[in-house]
Amino acid sequence: MARLGSSLKVLELGCGPGRDSRELADAGHTVRSVDHSPVAIGRARASTSNPPNLTFELGDAETALRRTATGSLDVVYAHALYMMLSGPEMERLLLEVRRGLRSGGFHLFAVRAVTDPHAGQGTEIDRDVYVGGPHVTPVRYYRAETVDAMAQRGFQLVDAEYVPELHLYFVCHRRP
Ligand SMILES: C[S@@+](CC[C@H](N)C(=O)[O-])C[C@H]1O[C@@H](n2cnc3c(N)ncnc32)[C@H](O)[C@@H]1O
Repeated sequence: MARLGSSLKVLELGCGPGRDSRELADAGHTVRSVDHSPVAIGRARASTSNPPNLTFELGDAETALRRTATGSLDVVYAHALYMMLSGPEMERLLLEVRRGLRSGGFHLFAVRAVTDPHAGQGTEIDRDVYVGGPHVTPVRYYRAETVDAMAQRGFQLVDAEYVPELHLYFVCHRRP
């Protein structure tokens, strides 16, 4: 993130209890973080180490983006959220991410790969989407081609690193 600039305006989607949000804000960025779980946002807000340049919002990721002024963000960040969204939800979300980012802004996200031992367990209800077994709700696992296809929604691929020991892709797209 430091390579992308300083004092950036960041929107984090699916922030959970806010671990990454705090790290980003402590690095000097202005961070607005959203999660639709009241428990997660309650925990995030309850932390005694939240800096003033960090705000937490209870709500849906797509709605938070829709409430964001066009071209106003330097970075949209999502760690381990996109496995929980359906194909149509992801399509709509990517449109909104692109709209919210300024030209030259970055979309940073991490997604779980199909190599994850949980992938393949339960019932496959769509390609690479499983429910049942360890999946309480449907979970989508990602392939390199899925990550590449996301860039084709109006972004340039800057970097996509697959980390085998974590079964995660760490991806950086840039809005032209
Ligand atoms: C696997 S957790 C990751 C949390 C955090 N980013 C982290 O890495 O620790 C996914 C989070 O996304 C949230 N979430 C799922 N769907 C969402 C949606 N449509 N809008 C906002 N948050 C959502 C969940 O409540 C959960 O906190």
